Amino acid sequence: MERVKLMKIIVTGGFGFIGSNFINMLFEKIEGIEIVNVDKMTYAADPSNLDPGINIKSINADISALNGHEDIFSGADCIVNFAAESHVDRSIEDSSSFIESNVKGVHNLLEICRKLDMRFHQVSTDEVYGSLDPEGSDRFTEKTPYNPRNPYSATKASADFLVRAYFNTYGLKTTISNCSNNYGPNQHPEKLIPKSVISALNDVKIPIYGSGLQIRDWIHVSDHCEAIKLILDKGKAGETYLVGADGEKSNLSVVNCILEAMGKPTTLIEFVKDRPGHDERYSIDSSKIRKELGWCPAISFEQGLRSTIDHYINNRRKYERKQVVTK
Ligand SMILES: NC(=O)c1ccc[n+]([C@@H]2O[C@H](COP(=O)([O-])OP(=O)(O)OC[C@H]3O[C@@H](n4cnc5c(N)ncnc54)[C@H](O)[C@@H]3O)[C@@H](O)[C@H]2O)c1
Repeated sequence: MERVKLMKIIVTGGFGFIGSNFINMLFEKIEGIEIVNVDKMTYAADPSNLDPGINIKSINADISALNGHEDIFSGADCIVNFAAESHVDRSIEDSSSFIESNVKGVHNLLEICRKLDMRFHQVSTDEVYGSLDPEGSDRFTEKTPYNPRNPYSATKASADFLVRAYFNTYGLKTTISNCSNNYGPNQHPEKLIPKSVISALNDVKIPIYGSGLQIRDWIHVSDHCEAIKLILDKGKAGETYLVGADGEKSNLSVVNCILEAMGKPTTLIEFVKDRPGHDERYSIDSSKIRKELGWCPAISFEQGLRSTIDHYINNRRKYERKQVVTK
C-alpha cells in the first residue's frame, strides 16, 4: 500500500484510553502532525488524558450521527477509529449504545472514507474470536473464525465484517488490528487493573468474577499504539493484523501481582458471581505482524505493570472521582 505520511489524520475516540495514548505517541514521534479528534465525550472520555501542550482540533460529535459534520474529514489522509463503547459488562446490561457506536458509527465512517477516498483503520479486539480452552495451548490467528460471545464482541465483529466488505466491494483502503487486553495509563477505573489499584489504595474489596481463572493476554498500550502506527506506515490494504505480547495471565494472578507490588493483603480479594457467558481464555499469535511489518513489543508485563500502578497511585484523585461518578 502507498505509504501514509501521517500528516493529517482523524482520530475518533481520542479522549479514551487507547486513543489518548495513540495521540500522545504521535505527537512525540511526528513533528508537524495534524490531528483532528472526533469524540462523543461519553463517561469514558477525558481530555486530561492528553499530555500537556498537545495541540489538536477536537470535535464533539457522535460517529453514529454525523450528518452535517462531513466537512470535518476533508483533507485528511486517514481515519483511525478508536471510538466505541468498550465495556463488556455495560453491553450485557444494555447493548443499544453498542450497536449505535460500534456498528452504525463504523458504517458512517466507512461511507465518509468512500466518498472522500480516504484510508480507514479499524481498532478491533481479540474478543471477536470467542473463547479458547483454558487448559489448551491453541492461539488465535488471522485465520481463526469469528465467534463473538457477548454483545460487545458481537458489535466489534459486525464492524470488522463491514470493514472487510468495504474493501472487497468498493476497494476502500482498509486495515484492521485485533489486539488483546491493553493496560497502561489513562484507562477508566471500571476496568480490572485501575479498579484493583484504586480499590487497594483505599483498602476496599476488589471484586473478581467467578474463580478468577479466566485468562487474558496482556499488552502494554504503548506497544499496541506502536503496532497501529506501523500498520498505517507499512500495512497492506485489506489485511488484518493480530497484535499481542505473549502476556497470558489469569485475572486472579494479575490482581495478586498488583497487591504484592503495593504491599496489600490478598484478603482484599472478593470472589463474586461470574459474568454471564464469560470467555475463559484469549491468546494471540502475533507472528504475522512481527514477520511482515517487523513489530515487536518492547515492554514486559512486570515492567509495564509497575509503571502502570505508579501512574494510578500518582493520579489517584482523578481516578477515584471517575469511579464515584460512574458507579
Ligand atoms: N481496552 C482494551 O483492552 C482494548 C483491546 C482491544 C481493542 N480495543 C478497542 O480499542 C478501542 C478503544 O478502546 P478504549 O479502551 O480506549 O475505550 P474507551 O472506552 O476508553 O474510550 C472510548 C472513546 O470513544 C469515545 N466514543 C464512544 N462512542 C463514541 C461515538 N459514538 N462517537 C464518538 N466517540 C465515541 C468515548 O467518548 C471515548 O473517548 C475500542 O474500539 C475497543 O474496542 C480495546
